[in-house]
Amino acid sequence: MGQDFRERLRKLEAASLEGGGAERVARQHAAGKLTARERCELLVDPGSFEEVDRLVMHRCHDFGMEEQRIPGDGVLTGFGRIEGRSVAIFAQDFTVFGGSLSEAHAEKICKIMDLALKFGIPVIGLNDSGGARIQEGVVSLGGYADIFLRNTICSGVIPQISAIMGPCAGGAVYSPAITDFVFMTRGTSYMFVTGPEVIRTVTHEEVTMERLGGAATHSQISGVAHFSCADDLDTLRSIRRLLSFLPLNNAADPPLRPTTDPLDRDDESLDTLVPEDPNKPYDIKRLIHSVADNGDFLEVHEHFARNLVVGFLRLGGQPVGVVANQPAHLAGVLDINASVKGARFTRFCDAFNVPLLILEDVPGFLPGVEQEHGGIIKHGAKLLYALAEATVPKITVITRKAYGGAYCVMGSKHIRTDFNFAYPTAEIAVMGPQGAVNILYRRDIERAADPEGRRSQLVREYTDKFANPLVAAERGFVDAVIQPRETRRRVIGALQLAANKRDWMPPKKHGNIPL
Ligand code: HXC
Repeated sequence: MGQDFRERLRKLEAASLEGGGAERVARQHAAGKLTARERCELLVDPGSFEEVDRLVMHRCHDFGMEEQRIPGDGVLTGFGRIEGRSVAIFAQDFTVFGGSLSEAHAEKICKIMDLALKFGIPVIGLNDSGGARIQEGVVSLGGYADIFLRNTICSGVIPQISAIMGPCAGGAVYSPAITDFVFMTRGTSYMFVTGPEVIRTVTHEEVTMERLGGAATHSQISGVAHFSCADDLDTLRSIRRLLSFLPLNNAADPPLRPTTDPLDRDDESLDTLVPEDPNKPYDIKRLIHSVADNGDFLEVHEHFARNLVVGFLRLGGQPVGVVANQPAHLAGVLDINASVKGARFTRFCDAFNVPLLILEDVPGFLPGVEQEHGGIIKHGAKLLYALAEATVPKITVITRKAYGGAYCVMGSKHIRTDFNFAYPTAEIAVMGPQGAVNILYRRDIERAADPEGRRSQLVREYTDKFANPLVAAERGFVDAVIQPRETRRRVIGALQLAANKRDWMPPKKHGNIPL
């Protein structure tokens, strides 16, 4: 090895460590952001980050770019371990050409994605970029398309996680959008297809970047982001926590974590969770925390479509995905956003061998012109399709209302769930007593000497007949009526029985979920 070569290598490595230089690094820090290298080091187990392609540089000769060649070209790529398990990582470096994506930058990302797919390990992208490298033109756009293709091919094979930790604009947003989970950092990240300037010109609307595409907007209104985090450190920690529930790939099982929480632990307080008055709300998250190992629950999409709660917990050490109506918000009704949220989460769990727990208390689909014109028919069908299609173990607990089409959708026996339990408070019917009586007995009530008295009597009769789980249990649509206090052990018992479940779909290229 010649002395000259050693010296060149030393200089290049030093340059790659410096990124865009001290001044730009200081600007990055002043903006409340960590550098790409700091992010990679903090994301993985200490000392486990192994960088590759550190010396890659762009090949652009225009706009004076020959003089500006920084090793690494604005993105760090490599591998690391999270709780001892391997992951692939790319992290865009905003201090180098604004993290913009050149041909070489894209090739580095594609290489790491190809390896992640071959190795069967998750890929985590830390996005912080001004978008396509303007100086490179179409080769940069081609680089994005190369990444989009890989995102699509990897979908359902390895978990893909995106963290937006700075700008992410234009077509660049479509890579995170295809991935399984999107994290955003509050105050320093934004995502939009067209920015405020373009919007002002085209639609004459005035909007700030934060309002248009900040973490609050995407985690509450659009649902593009699954997690909104306080700062870079919180984002990186949250990614580690999410990964603790996920398998490395679609052929692996989710990681078991032995628990000291007794599998047969009863919780008497659950016996009074569901109020006597069927129209009174309660918080379904109390039930989720109560059944979970050590009360530990990672909610996904916490601030979006709050009428449906989805997320990960462990039951007897086994990661489980929960899909639960939330009576404390809009009475737990299913609307467009809740349906899409539930469907996407269900499909992730099914693709990655995570059993599903469905907690049902649903008065139906949300009525209204806005919902109908918005396509509640096709969006509601997504949730139905996803739950029917899923072949992982599926356990349903009906805590109270299971009305109408929503009964069928929310993990009914008919869409091949494995165990269906109902609380004594379960009400399973085509619709609620008031609505049913008004339709069935309108003339009868009108003709009665005391219409209100007659209506109340009919409502009582209907309630006695249908507002309980007995008719469903007689048919075997409910496997057992259980006491709320025993939910944890009943669900764990069911999961243990279904642990080696094999279910099937007829051979097909792929289904056609109503998108
Ligand atoms: C080349 C870029 C760049 C880009 C930023 N830089 N974006 N270089 N290509 N796309 C450089 C700047 O010249 C600057 O270099 C450094 O990065 C930091 O940028 P600043 O503007 O100083 O930072 P800031 O004020 O924080 O503003 C960040 C920004 C802005 C809002 C992202 O840079 C910006 O608007 N960039 C252009 C965004 C854009 O329109 N991209 C194309 C989107 S379309 P120096 O040397 O001064 O440090 C797209 C298509 C994808 O991406 C298509 C996929 C199909």
